[in-house]
Amino acid sequence: MISVRMRAELKGIHVSGAERIVDEGQVERVVKELLKRPKDYNKMVITLEKLEEIYIIPKALTIYSYDFESVQSARNFAVKKLEEAGISRDLAKRAIELLEKGPNPKGGNMRGAVLMDVRTGERLEPDQERGIRTVRVDWKDRKSIKLALLKRGIKRQYLHRLLDALALATKNVYCGVLAELCWSDDPDYTTGYVASKNIGYVRIKPLKELNNPLGGRVYFVERDRVEEIINCLEKKAVLVEAL
Ligand code: COA
Ligand code: AMP
Repeated sequence: MISVRMRAELKGIHVSGAERIVDEGQVERVVKELLKRPKDYNKMVITLEKLEEIYIIPKALTIYSYDFESVQSARNFAVKKLEEAGISRDLAKRAIELLEKGPNPKGGNMRGAVLMDVRTGERLEPDQERGIRTVRVDWKDRKSIKLALLKRGIKRQYLHRLLDALALATKNVYCGVLAELCWSDDPDYTTGYVASKNIGYVRIKPLKELNNPLGGRVYFVERDRVEEIINCLEKKAVLVEAL
């Protein structure tokens, strides 16, 4: 199979990224689809890579959705869920504060996720401006998953995001991430999530105020597994089979 990856920049700033893992015969169709992803760009890079080995995850994390009246009550709920996932209250709050102020030490967003030591809260990613990215992950049959999500009442405008983020969070758990906190850096998108093996994929709205351009991801990990986890997140090709 082939890993098809697209990233686009506008005036030197990353504006869009997406990926697929497909049979060779699907590459043309998928490239055409990804070409349409960014609204505007002045540079786009498409990468095709032949994959030797692919691991199948039989089932995605179970989806739950919760809406709140205020960011504060949504964040309180996120903390409660992270506690259920085995993260201490103190660290869950610290992760939220980190995304709130912008996790890049130079200010603003990162290009990947924070790795947070689940015991001490220390940051373990080798480069704190870059972070770690989860790559080489897709659905085995994206179309059927899309239809199944529509049937469950997921609105069309949330579909792409949910598909991508659910596959990514499912791979993270498979790779050994104990829990994850995420909200988007897109100023128009306020739904975030927390995820882990036991709590599933918990969508929470609104985890930030509208028009706020800051976002990010925090992966809680055990320090002595960091190298193995980074290798899995970045390198291992994974397809998720079913919802
Ligand atoms: N954010 C910011 N910059 C990014 C980026 C991202 N998500 N992905 C790539 N870049 C930029 C960086 O400058 C990067 O250099 P760096 O490694 O020093 O950070 C450069 O592009 C090259 O990145 P690389 O990892 O070689 O890109 P790739 O060709 O392997 O493609 C993507 C990776 C774009 C597919 C992946 O990052 C991505 O965005 N996947 C989709 C994730 C997703 O679905 N997120 C949505 C969840 S809601
Ligand atoms: P997004 O959900 O695309 O708005 O991304 C939110 C944040 O997650 C970004 O600001 C990055 O810090 C981080 N991020 C983006 N892509 C990835 C990825 N592939 N893996 C891990 N973190 C990512």
